[in-house]
Parts: sequence; C-alpha cells; structure tokens
Amino acid sequence: MKLYVTTAEGTYDIIFRKGGISDIASLWGAGEKTLVVTDSGVPMQYAEAVAKSCKNAEIFTFPQGEGRKQISTLSDIWRKMVQMELTRSDRVIAVGGGVVGDMAGLAAATYMRGIAFYNVPTTVLSQVDSSVGGKTAVDFEGYKNMIGAFYPPKGVLIDTDTLCTLPARQVSAGLAEALKMAATHDADLFEAFEKGEQDMETLLQRAVDIKRGVVERDEKEYGERKALNFGHTLAHALESKLSFDALYHGECVALGMLPMCAPAVRARLRNVYKKWGLPTEFPMNAEDLLEACRHDKKCSGEHITVIYVAQVGQYEMKDISFTEFCDMIREAVTE
Ligand SMILES: NC(=O)c1ccc[n+]([C@@H]2O[C@H](COP(=O)([O-])OP(=O)(O)OC[C@H]3O[C@@H](n4cnc5c(N)ncnc54)[C@H](O)[C@@H]3O)[C@@H](O)[C@H]2O)c1
Repeated sequence: MKLYVTTAEGTYDIIFRKGGISDIASLWGAGEKTLVVTDSGVPMQYAEAVAKSCKNAEIFTFPQGEGRKQISTLSDIWRKMVQMELTRSDRVIAVGGGVVGDMAGLAAATYMRGIAFYNVPTTVLSQVDSSVGGKTAVDFEGYKNMIGAFYPPKGVLIDTDTLCTLPARQVSAGLAEALKMAATHDADLFEAFEKGEQDMETLLQRAVDIKRGVVERDEKEYGERKALNFGHTLAHALESKLSFDALYHGECVALGMLPMCAPAVRARLRNVYKKWGLPTEFPMNAEDLLEACRHDKKCSGEHITVIYVAQVGQYEMKDISFTEFCDMIREAVTE
C-alpha cells in the first residue's frame, strides 16, 4: 500500500510493507553510499537489515533518548558523513523512532546543503506522525525542536513488523497521536478505535492519510496544520512539570486533549484510553497544571488560541481568554 505526499519540492511516497525493511534495495535501489542512522534503543537487527540491502552502507548509532536530540549528536553524524566522504549523490536512511528521524533528517538537510534522506520509522508515534510532514529538528537551550528545517524525505517505509519489539506502553502512547487525528478529522476512524480495532496497519494507514491531507493543504503550518497541535499546549505543560519519562509524550497528548473538547467527546476519549491503557486522570491538580501553563510562551498573554473539538471528526480554532482556558482545565481535571 502506498500513499503519495505532494510537497512544494515534489512528491514522495510512504510505503506500508510488512518485512520491507529487509528489502530496501527493491524500494529505493542499492544506492552508492548509504549512512544508516539509528539509536542504541532500537534493536540493531533493523539497521543491519537495511544496511545489508544497500551497496556501501555504514551504521551510525547514538545513545537513545530525547536528551540526545541536540547539536552535539548532529555534529557526530556530520563527522561520520565526512569520514565516509559522502557526496550529494549519496543518502542517509533513518531507522528508529522520532528522535532518530529528526536527527538524521536534519543532518541530511544540512550536510553539503542537503543530501537524500529516507525514513524507516520504527515506533508507532514516528510511523503515524513524523513519517509525514518533513519536519526535522533538534532541541536547543531547553527549547524543544528549536533548530530545524522542513526537509521532506525521498521516501518513507512503514514496516509494522518492527513494532513487535516495541513495549506495549510505547504502542499506546503512539496511538494517542492517531486518535488525535481521528478526533479532529475523521469520525469513522474514531469509531474504529471505539469498537476496538486492533489491526495496526489499518489504524496507521488511515491516520497517516489524514496527516498527509493536512500537510498537503498547509505544509508550513500557517493554518490547518495547527489543528494537529490538538492537546499539545497542555501536553507540553505536563511534560515540563513531570520528571523525565514519568509520562510519555503521547500519554501527555492524550490528557491534553481532554479539557479541549465538549464533555460528551471527553467521555468518549476516556473510554478509548481505557481500552488502550492510556491515562484517564491527570497526575496533578488543576492549579499546578495551570502554573505550568503560565510558564509557556503560548499561554502567557491574555488570550490563547486553542484547537477545540465540539463534535468528533471536526475541530475549531478558538481564541479564548486565559480565564476561560483555566475553567476548561479545572472542569476536565476535577470531573
Ligand atoms: N518530525 C516530526 O514531524 C515529528 C512528529 C512527532 C514527533 N517528533 C519527535 O519524535 C520524538 C519522539 O518519537 P518517539 O516517540 O518515536 O521516541 P524515540 O525516538 O525516543 O523512541 C522511543 C524509544 O523506543 C526505542 N525504539 C524505537 N523503535 C523501537 C522498536 N521497534 N522496538 C523497540 N524499541 C524501539 C528508541 O530507542 C527509544 O528508546 C520527539 O523528539 C518528537 O519531537 C517528530
């Protein structure tokens, strides 16, 4: 199954193929030289399988974790590219989660002003979210994704067989992003979640297709793409207050969506969360959460723009006062 994504720079495809990781050459050719980038938490067999089907491939592995999404890791990848004497006819293939995709993508975007980048995402979150949209970035000075570029890949392979090694909690956290796309854009997909659809290919293909459409209509996030930030303002506030990895990003997004929707939608969301083992209750009281929000630049003014879901499958971009925002949070946290 293939989805075609059209960007200002051209079209690339997202291929869904179980076992495709062992047959990269048939999808994208054997290449001249390939740098395969991965991290220490990704089972090495995936990078090795990709490297094996390329002509002259080397693997670069950096330590896992969001904490490594920084300039020094980028320098390490650039250094490896120089050592391999990569030229603009060579390529980089990311094999891993969103951290690997962001790092390898930015390295490819900047090395010699840009060499070919291919992405093989291996977490649910990266398959559903970072696989489409061309965003690459590193964190900087405590700010997430502060330095980066829009740099669409030449191709993406989603091989859901790679998810067999992913811990169940990571799977659920990633699905929160798919549920977000359903809540804002596709009532039928939302119902599939409610009915307990378990087939990962089906859920991911439909969610990726929603994101594809949004990104094609608004590649640089001037309008509609902001809808994909549904739940994220609060998610970032939660992440800033909680100790590292107490809740995964997707789990924070799940909680972050709750106050930003009508009570009936909230009840439906909570039911789906229970099915997938996502958190349904906030790990702190409303005042502590609001305190964290006040430190967020996006919430510092008197007004704040939020994505609000009054009805499943549709969203509104609402400009509300900070007082209204506080009331919505108090309501969802205390009910
Ligand atoms: N570029 C984009 O459009 C975009 C979109 C969403 C998120 N992101 C970024 O993605 C990052 C989060 O991505 P993530 O949730 O994939 O986290 P991650 O990349 O840190 O991966 C989570 C953990 O799973 C491990 N892992 C990866 N694949 C595995 C597998 N198949 N089996 C077992 N373990 C595996 C990793 O080593 C890591 O320890 C954030 O930095 C976020 O900013 C980018």
